[in-house]
Amino acid sequence: MTSESSAMLRPVKLSPDGRVLHLLDQRSLPEREDWLDLDDVEAVAEAIEKLAVRGAPAIGCAAALGLVASSWRFSDDAGMFRESCLMAFERLARTRPTAVNLFHAIGHMRGALVECPAGLTVAGVRGHLHAAALRYVDDELRACLTMADHGAPLLPDVGTVLTHCNTGALATAGWGTALGVIRRAHANGKKLRVLADETRPVLQGARLTAWELRHDGIPVDIIADNMAGALMARGEVQAAIVGADRIARNGDVANKIGTYTVAVLCRYHQIPFYVAAPWSTVDPATASGAEIPIEERDHNEVHLHGGRRMTPAGVGARNPAFDVTPAELVTAFITERGVFRPATLSALMDS
Ligand code: MRU
Repeated sequence: MTSESSAMLRPVKLSPDGRVLHLLDQRSLPEREDWLDLDDVEAVAEAIEKLAVRGAPAIGCAAALGLVASSWRFSDDAGMFRESCLMAFERLARTRPTAVNLFHAIGHMRGALVECPAGLTVAGVRGHLHAAALRYVDDELRACLTMADHGAPLLPDVGTVLTHCNTGALATAGWGTALGVIRRAHANGKKLRVLADETRPVLQGARLTAWELRHDGIPVDIIADNMAGALMARGEVQAAIVGADRIARNGDVANKIGTYTVAVLCRYHQIPFYVAAPWSTVDPATASGAEIPIEERDHNEVHLHGGRRMTPAGVGARNPAFDVTPAELVTAFITERGVFRPATLSALMDS
């Protein structure tokens, strides 16, 4: 995939026989395109924890497809097979706490397991799980394509759009959420330039968003995260669009650390701030952002840069991987079900 568009990239896929999960290892990008072949639960869980696969929808897809690939190692005894599935759900649920898509995918697969009649053979149960996982991924891909159609008209015909983290094909079943909206707007003929926040400390913007946009021929400039405000003040940003890891019932949004700062800057500079996410990111069970569990990652992600320690020995660090943007700062949510103001989205969750 060195020269053509990344739009049709599927970073998470199952071999046709369902025995192997193929993951594009996002840690190697942009230097190398390495694929991992995984067939056991522990390896799938570690790939999620260590960010070989990342992005809220993509980790849900990896969990669903990873369960199917791993299930070939489970017992041929129907009771023990079900027991192993339950243990796999439990292990996958302990990987990353913030993105609700992971729990949504696990719930979907658990539902598929429960639906299987008691007398079904292991092969029959596995076939049912396989079909359910493929359906999950298809639905996620369709959601991205539909939200792109809904969101593209909101972006300016000519101008610069700021985005944060990576929300493209790499972060999803394919196409992308916020980046998918930008992609569709570009395909529709809008003359857009993207400002991609580098997104410290793991650099999803500089490494991954830039890689995707370059493949697509969409003009992109990378900026250090602390440059956004100055560029907005100069009138150089017409809209901002980001993804989400969890949207609480009141419309508060957890997304990559730094999103809140972008939203506050947008409000001050009167720039529209859009959140694009599939319905699998919506979490009516969580009342507000204050209840969303925020992952704290290894402090070496902050201390080290390119493998070299940049901070004096003995100093501490903080590394919350996500922040919460209050609903009131969101201009509109772009979903596969339509475009909603925060209050309308909350009302839909309540109904
Ligand atoms: O830590 P990451 O890279 O998994 O965080 C990803 C993000 O925060 C994305 O913005 C979010 O998952 C939306 S992706 C479509």
